Amino acid sequence: MGHMEITITNPLDMHLHVRDGEMLQLVAPMSARNFAGAVIMPNLVQPVANLQAMHTYAERVREAANDSHFTLFMTLFFRNYSEKELRAAQNMPNFFGIKLYPAGVTTNSDEGVRSLRAVESTLRHMEELGIPLLVHGESQGFVLDREAEFLPVYRRLAEQFPKLIICMEHITTAAAIQLLNEHENLCATVTLHHLELTLDDVLGGMMKPHLFCKPVAKREDDREALLQAVLSGHPRVMFGSDSAPHPVHKKECCECAAGIFSAPVALCCLAKIFAEHGAIDKLQAFVSDNACRRYNLIPSKKKVILCDTPMQVPMEYCGYGQKITPLHAGEQVPWSIKNVEV
Ligand code: NCD
Ligand code: ZN
Repeated sequence: MGHMEITITNPLDMHLHVRDGEMLQLVAPMSARNFAGAVIMPNLVQPVANLQAMHTYAERVREAANDSHFTLFMTLFFRNYSEKELRAAQNMPNFFGIKLYPAGVTTNSDEGVRSLRAVESTLRHMEELGIPLLVHGESQGFVLDREAEFLPVYRRLAEQFPKLIICMEHITTAAAIQLLNEHENLCATVTLHHLELTLDDVLGGMMKPHLFCKPVAKREDDREALLQAVLSGHPRVMFGSDSAPHPVHKKECCECAAGIFSAPVALCCLAKIFAEHGAIDKLQAFVSDNACRRYNLIPSKKKVILCDTPMQVPMEYCGYGQKITPLHAGEQVPWSIKNVEV
């Protein structure tokens, strides 16, 4: 056993689902312990699609997280917003951006966008006001092609709204990295699981419901392209866990919900990946600096000190009447959190 330490300043999770109610109570503290802030997704059963809902949701998340050093970056669910609404949103302290889901592509997205042409004025206002657009970029096509089929939409948005900050959420393909490199106003989040998994891990052997998420993990060359971008310190690639908890009974059943719960292991697993590839010096950029620079963020001050003492990941996390299976359940991760300084 060595005695290696990695200190991360203000780690941020730029794409996080914390849900509501009892699930929120169980999961919010796990992210708050490991991160200085997170971008909170708005796809509740009743989407967060007005300022009042966003405000009250932020209060519930804040209370559940119970950590004054965990900054909430709240998102609104995309619909046509008036310029007045957008200006009002900007005046709210925790407002971060707007998350666009094409209708029906993932969990709780039925109210998503059906025609981009019909929302151009909202996009124009967002561009003028400097409000980031976060996009779940998948088509309704064949599951392995959904991201690739959406890339022309990203291209069109990037060209039509050159000043709009557009984040390609949870990218999974080499083609997405290539597109990212062609447009300065595009940035991207990458999850932990898409750096670790291919579709083979999900269903190449026994089918693993806890590794099923959207977008689904792709091919080995896609995974390698994501890794390469992240490990080289690509300035427009940021960590977003897309940690998306579902209760065990919604995962281990006939219609398995999409989503991987990675929040409690995310930072330690990233340390493993970066250490293995001799790229520890690039971790800070991926989990904090790139996002801070891109979005002019001022997160809470929090230093997370990781050490190379293994973490034993529990088989499940239970509480508040909820039971969730985390990524790497029952395994050892070679890094753990030694201390958190605020
Ligand atoms: C997310 C969820 O469960 O809310 N699921 C997922 O597989 N990633 C939604 C999403 O981000 O697509
Ligand atoms: Zn998500």
